[in-house]
Amino acid sequence: MRKPPATGPAASKDSRRFISLAVLFAMLFCALGQSSAQAAPTAPPPWLGAAWYPEQWPESRWDADLQLMQNAHLDVVRVGEFAWSALEPAQGRYNLDWLARAVRLAEKHHIAVVIGTPTDAPPAWLTRLHPGTLRVDAAGRTAEHGSRRQFNYASPEYRGFCAQIAAQLARRFGHDPNVIGWQIGNEYTDESFDPATRRRFQLWLQRKYKTLDTLNRAWVTAYWSQTYDRWNEIPLPASAGNPGLLLDHRRFVSDTWRDFQQVQIDAIRRFADPRQFITTNIGGLGWSDNWDHYEITRPLDLAAWDDYVGEGHLHVDRNAAMHDFVRGWKRRNFWVMETQPGSVNWAPVNTTLDRGETRAMAWQAIGHGADAVLYWQWRDALNGQEQYHGAIVGPDGSPLPIYSEIGRIGGEFQRAAPALHGTQPAAQVALLVTYDSRWAIDFQPHSKYYDQLELLLDYYRPLRDEQLTVDIVSADAPLDGYKLILAPSLNVISQSLAAHLLAYVQQGGQLLLGPRSGMKDEHNALNVQRQPGPLAAPLGGRVEQYYALDHPLPVAGSLGAGSASLWAEQLSAAAPDVQVLLRYGQSNGWLDNQPAMMTRRVGKGSITYLGAVLDPELMRQVTAWAIARAQVHAEFPGVPAGVEVCRRAGADHMAFILINHGAVAAHVALPGPMSDVLHGDRIVTAVDLSPQGVDVLATGKP
Ligand code: GAL
Repeated sequence: MRKPPATGPAASKDSRRFISLAVLFAMLFCALGQSSAQAAPTAPPPWLGAAWYPEQWPESRWDADLQLMQNAHLDVVRVGEFAWSALEPAQGRYNLDWLARAVRLAEKHHIAVVIGTPTDAPPAWLTRLHPGTLRVDAAGRTAEHGSRRQFNYASPEYRGFCAQIAAQLARRFGHDPNVIGWQIGNEYTDESFDPATRRRFQLWLQRKYKTLDTLNRAWVTAYWSQTYDRWNEIPLPASAGNPGLLLDHRRFVSDTWRDFQQVQIDAIRRFADPRQFITTNIGGLGWSDNWDHYEITRPLDLAAWDDYVGEGHLHVDRNAAMHDFVRGWKRRNFWVMETQPGSVNWAPVNTTLDRGETRAMAWQAIGHGADAVLYWQWRDALNGQEQYHGAIVGPDGSPLPIYSEIGRIGGEFQRAAPALHGTQPAAQVALLVTYDSRWAIDFQPHSKYYDQLELLLDYYRPLRDEQLTVDIVSADAPLDGYKLILAPSLNVISQSLAAHLLAYVQQGGQLLLGPRSGMKDEHNALNVQRQPGPLAAPLGGRVEQYYALDHPLPVAGSLGAGSASLWAEQLSAAAPDVQVLLRYGQSNGWLDNQPAMMTRRVGKGSITYLGAVLDPELMRQVTAWAIARAQVHAEFPGVPAGVEVCRRAGADHMAFILINHGAVAAHVALPGPMSDVLHGDRIVTAVDLSPQGVDVLATGKP
């Protein structure tokens, strides 16, 4: 466990950690425009933690659990997020004393606490007495008690109960020195399709469009006589429907979850110290699409997600990309609020991560900008729906085999804290995404094989193979810090987004657009310029036609030769200074010898359009060309295959996290002498990593 701050020369490392923590908090809350207050008694990040459910266990057992956590160097527990019936056993009768005792006991063990509001699991009395708070699914069925997520996210009545329990908790724990933050609810998941929510959707549309004429025009409702004469004729779509209606519905769902969340933020902020952060844990195996993550995380102090592998083993690139995506929500470091201690219970086959893989996965999170990793869950619950889920200690309260690996991670986090202090990944390259584009393609994929996450990874992988740090950000984020921007499927490009991208290019940025870019406007209507819509003019060319493919086609040009599959667009160049970089070979007649990729210098930068999904090797050539043109420099050259290097940069120092995901040992020659943080800070010029091996190296003075 990490000692509390001490004084005197012998304690200099500990004091340094404490100072770092103070600085970190100061930075965090200055950034929030709030004053810093006394920090919780923990050492600085990275932090290790677990979801702990004291309400499920006799109080006499808590101390032993916390002692085991302390021995494994856990810094933080998340508590309370499903404990509503224990916190408010009957309407208006609160019992928070047990939680207060749990918080104090955790403090005794130098373990800080994040309190989850229990609003993902309303108690039976609530839904019995107030059935209007229950969710109605798309088929019109009302949810029942007995699981969780049975509440209606749009119900003002339900939100009222949420505000009350959140306020009660904040009043009691908002100044508690051992409570460092709050989690609102748990993995916002299911929307409701009840009549009142439908009415709210109609009002939302009325506020947005003001008149039905405007709405009818934007959605082109003349199509199939969809023209609306009254607001209450507009349906709440479950799946199929007019593309404009569908897109607005996803935005409505995002706004509704955001408002659901805001009610609790307001309730907590009335009482809580500014030093306590407010977050929520976002689930859905990474890039879930039920609502807009940028919208939901904007009002939060911290982004946090739940990182599960499920069946099989760590998908190195996919998981790395998801961390980078999460970091992009608020464009700063984040937390992994839940991850699996070995295995889950909900995959088709609940395999366990290999020995060492949990550690590699934890370090990967830190490498990509996590400041905390919390395991779900600490101890096997005796009953309930998740008896088979991985845990750190068993039902008897004694360690499971994974306990020692988690303790090792905790010790290493502690050793690496000074080197990681004040650092975050800093990228020269960014991938752009938007939820509008994601949804617009998902509503009409045109090929069932067109998988936007896979396409994102097609662009991401070759960049990471060069060990480049990659940001994944919303297309409307500030872009001026990047030398190269890649937008794999930016399907919706409005005039204002086009202006934003063009300004980036004019100032010297290199923009590479992928297939399906710019097809739609902000109402999900077709752009009349054809693809890439408002960017067709600056590109000096456009897409003549797109083709969903059932077999690969040859592609070749100055960047190499290979194939296109799934999707191919026939491009045409109108401006004389457009350079065609790739063409299709003999294929379906329409595409034969037609441009597949073209580029044009614009202002001080360039716009490039790639109309096909390429094979990995040709994609590598494309990204190599783009990297060279943008003068993006390798950050850590000469790394053997299977080894991942993550770079976190501070003001005057740098930390590198090296992970061998490969099956064989790897020898890595370093670009210069570095301090080996996990091995006594000795200066090294090379490291050897066993399979699943990890090392942390530092340069400069932390
Ligand atoms: C998460 C959820 C947790 C737990 C976990 C099991 O999605 O937030 O409460 O159910 O899954 O993997």
